[in-house]
Amino acid sequence: MLAGKKILLGVTGSIAAYKSLHLVRELTKAGACVNVVLTATAHEFVSPLTLKVFSGQPVLSSLFDPENDMAHLRLAEEADLVLIAPVSAHFIAKMAAGLADDLLSTLLLATKAPTLIAPAMDLGMWDHPAVRENISLLKKRGIQVIEPESGPLASGKEGVGRLACEQTITEAVMTLLFENHPPLSGEVVLITAGPTEEAIDPVRFISNRSSGKMGYALAEVASQWGADVTLISGPTQLSPPSGVERISVRSAAEMEKAFNLKLYASSIVIMTAAVSDYRPVSTAKQKIKKTGSVRTLDLEETPDILETRALGRDDQLVVGFAAETENLIENATKKLKNKRLDLIVANDVTLEGAGFDVETNIVHLIKRAGEATALPKMSKRLLAGKILEETLKIRTIPLPSLP
Ligand code: CTP
Repeated sequence: MLAGKKILLGVTGSIAAYKSLHLVRELTKAGACVNVVLTATAHEFVSPLTLKVFSGQPVLSSLFDPENDMAHLRLAEEADLVLIAPVSAHFIAKMAAGLADDLLSTLLLATKAPTLIAPAMDLGMWDHPAVRENISLLKKRGIQVIEPESGPLASGKEGVGRLACEQTITEAVMTLLFENHPPLSGEVVLITAGPTEEAIDPVRFISNRSSGKMGYALAEVASQWGADVTLISGPTQLSPPSGVERISVRSAAEMEKAFNLKLYASSIVIMTAAVSDYRPVSTAKQKIKKTGSVRTLDLEETPDILETRALGRDDQLVVGFAAETENLIENATKKLKNKRLDLIVANDVTLEGAGFDVETNIVHLIKRAGEATALPKMSKRLLAGKILEETLKIRTIPLPSLP
């Protein structure tokens, strides 16, 4: 996703400087060329040699390096984006004052590239009026700030000040770089989300624990990446992401109808909905009264929306989800084949931090031709980006124009 992009990564003096290694790895894995510039104090926390090995590029620090004459001008001009992570309270103050007394601060005055900063500091410093004022000044100048996270700090205290995790920073880098060239522009994406409800009588129904969070995260990221997104949603508590057309449905039959209407016009289809597999054979017109004895409910299968879909366009990519409690890879691979999918996202819903109604997910991605790739636990939003990235990689045929 970042192939051909040049990122200038500034690292300043903070205990979180060691995390710049993970960041370099994440950014280079996505295809970016990363040039690292260290401040003098950053040398106390991370070695230039390690960063050189991780980035595959020379690591610079000095304004007066005879080997890299005018490096500040060259780097400032070549960068597609400048990222400073971690940025210390001291360096934030330098930026706000417009000082230029080392390589990093000088090239910040010379560059026209969009700039992102990811602060890291001890408890209380982030809330100090001096830091707050400097941050708001930098924001006014168009610099984007990736807010620090809350958690245990190097001092042993707990609170806001931890450097945002490398996936969050990478996602912010992508969003900023894609502002003018979004990777999904021209794509029409159809996403289903949430549970379905199968009515038993006017007040009761069969449903499941799906919250819809994964599908809504996918819709939000796809729309931010420039796609035209339709979200067919079962009943959830969530608001539709801005710019997304939401079609609200209740039952599997309603979802199937809406899905089939939108299917052909879509270049990417992602089915995250937890469609109820069974529904009552008939729905009682009136509320069923208790009788004091055992009752049975006759159920029939609902349509498998994904499996019975009409053949799509040649260029259409279809992604499904598999919610499993056992034999994850085997069961998911079977669904991938039976439902003629390009990619399946396999979920062991019994794991803590995965599956229904939580903010995170732990999945394996299985492509039609390929091994299962295990992903670490991550937020559903970050996972949405990964799924879209992997889906796009599958596309080999150029998009024909729509009829
Ligand atoms: N799906 C669907 N229609 C259904 C059931 C499932 O379109 N009636 C889709 C889901 O949205 C998901 C994929 O099929 O993308 C797999 O769903 P899952 O619930 O994991 O599996 P099932 O096919 O329902 O099989 P089982 O419940 O037996 O595991």
